[in-house]
Amino acid sequence: MTPATAAVLALDGIGVEWPGSAPGAPGYVAVEDVSLSVGRGEFLSVVGPTGCGKSTLLNVAAGLLAPSSGAVLVAGERLSGLNRRAGYLFQADALMPWRNARENVEAGLIFAGVEPEQAHRRADEWLRRVGLSGFGDRYPHQLSGGMRKRVALAQVLILEPEILLMDEPFAALDVQTRQLMENELLELWSAERRSVVFITHDLEEAISLSDRIVLLSAAPRTRPIGEFPIDLPRPRDVAEIRLTPRFLELHGRIWAALRAEVLKAYAVSQRLG
Ligand SMILES: Nc1ncnc2c1ncn2[C@@H]1O[C@H](COP(=O)(O)OP(=O)(O)OP(=O)(O)O)[C@@H](O)[C@H]1O
Ligand SMILES: [Mg+2]
Repeated sequence: MTPATAAVLALDGIGVEWPGSAPGAPGYVAVEDVSLSVGRGEFLSVVGPTGCGKSTLLNVAAGLLAPSSGAVLVAGERLSGLNRRAGYLFQADALMPWRNARENVEAGLIFAGVEPEQAHRRADEWLRRVGLSGFGDRYPHQLSGGMRKRVALAQVLILEPEILLMDEPFAALDVQTRQLMENELLELWSAERRSVVFITHDLEEAISLSDRIVLLSAAPRTRPIGEFPIDLPRPRDVAEIRLTPRFLELHGRIWAALRAEVLKAYAVSQRLG
């Protein structure tokens, strides 16, 4: 692994404890002592069962949530407040419904004080890059789920963040649209070489996209339980790469480690349900 100091982004011994429901009630330790880092230009996926704390960790990395213990290092410096070098693609749809696609994409530039005319131009250019030329005047409700994700991606990439934090961005899409979007993401990533932290519970998606995968244990007290370099050749087509013997071999090995955690998470959900 890249040493924490040289990494673009590093979580160092992160713990998050949510307060108990009543005063004096014990808290809930969601994640405990999580250390992981992403190198420059690296595509890292973090995989773990539902409810294990993936979104929580990404919120910590984005500086939206202060951890109970540990530190976030951005290019070796301790983060306090928002992580301004990171762009965040949320798990839920986060477009502003009252703004059309172009206005959504340019919003960050306008907030940053860029001239409206220049912001429009750059927004149109990004809409083109994500395959939405001519859709700038449509409002989010007039776009398909896949198109909305493209707008959200353009909205983040236009700010040229060094680090992209992505929280299961394609989970709600149908399989075909999802694979199209994954291929598009890989193309954009290889052109720009941002560092990516990609959260998913889908192991196949993680293997087909990443340079490296970190596995998280089931809740509570979630921590990393394994790390796997993915040595599949690039450029990759996410649909085709899944049929290769090396993919199947990696999948078998990583799934053997993940399976027990998924079953634990399932058992907990059955008890609660
Ligand atoms: N604001 C909050 N207050 C209290 N508990 C929270 C809060 N946010 C999350 N949690 C709890 O922290 C744990 C981890 O939640 P998180 O959303 O990070 O999981 P996840 O791994 O992203 O799950 P999924 O795969 O379903 O998106 C869960 O038990 C959740 O109930
Ligand atoms: Mg989540």
